[in-house]
Amino acid sequence: PVKRLHAPDILARKGGEPIVCLTAYDAPTAELLDSHCDLLLVGDSVGMVVHGLPNTVGVTLDMMILHGQAVMRGARQAMVVIDMPFGSYEGGKELAYQNCARVMKETGAQGVKLESGPTVPQTIEYLVQRGIPVMGHVGLRPQAVLNEGGFKAKGKTEDERLRVMSEAEATADAGAFAVVIEGVAEGLAAEITLAIDKPTIGIGASAACDGQILVVNDMLGMFDWSPKFVRRYADLRGEITRAAKSYAEDVRARRFPAQVETYFSKKPV
Ligand code: KIV
Ligand code: NA
Repeated sequence: PVKRLHAPDILARKGGEPIVCLTAYDAPTAELLDSHCDLLLVGDSVGMVVHGLPNTVGVTLDMMILHGQAVMRGARQAMVVIDMPFGSYEGGKELAYQNCARVMKETGAQGVKLESGPTVPQTIEYLVQRGIPVMGHVGLRPQAVLNEGGFKAKGKTEDERLRVMSEAEATADAGAFAVVIEGVAEGLAAEITLAIDKPTIGIGASAACDGQILVVNDMLGMFDWSPKFVRRYADLRGEITRAAKSYAEDVRARRFPAQVETYFSKKPV
């Protein structure tokens, strides 16, 4: 029997062995990733990488719950964290609590993640006090894309650096068990990691963080483009393209199915 990791186990890794995280959206992928990862995030990136949306603003709570349930069926030992989608927590603490509680109940996941803009840390404190483990997310916050006019790295000006640092500190002080840092330069990631007593999980945020996360479809090479910070550990795009092409050629040439792929009745018909 394997023991499932929970928020305190991730928290205890601050400054220790790097925390290994990936996103996951479905049961079979979660099952493959599970034994290699400490934490699986059901990211609202599911909207972009699985559902073909232009950004994460259109992702719904129902989508997150459905994918969360699937990942929970595949993962046995990794902590599973579910992203709260745009519109499900920014409107107030009570609204956030209702929606987070629903996610926790209906998926059985071990925690949720909220993008920690300026007003969110007080909500995180409210949630944590009521029994919901929360991971924060600072720096580039994809749910703010419409205000920003695109996905842009953060911390290029001194003003921005101070803002990201203070959001990270407020998130940690609010009781988050870990903080994702996205799209910031190494210097700022290192400063934040030194300043807060919670593990930092970097994505496009250098090796200075306490852990790393990538979107699984990116690191598997599913797309023709991926950001600079992604390392492609596989070429699934090439593999799937080759497979689809071979299958189409075989069907058209009547090479598929062959005898070994065909059922035959015992009695002659
Ligand atoms: O939605 C997501 O996949 C994320 C991670 C990349 C941190 O928020
Ligand atoms: Na996300």
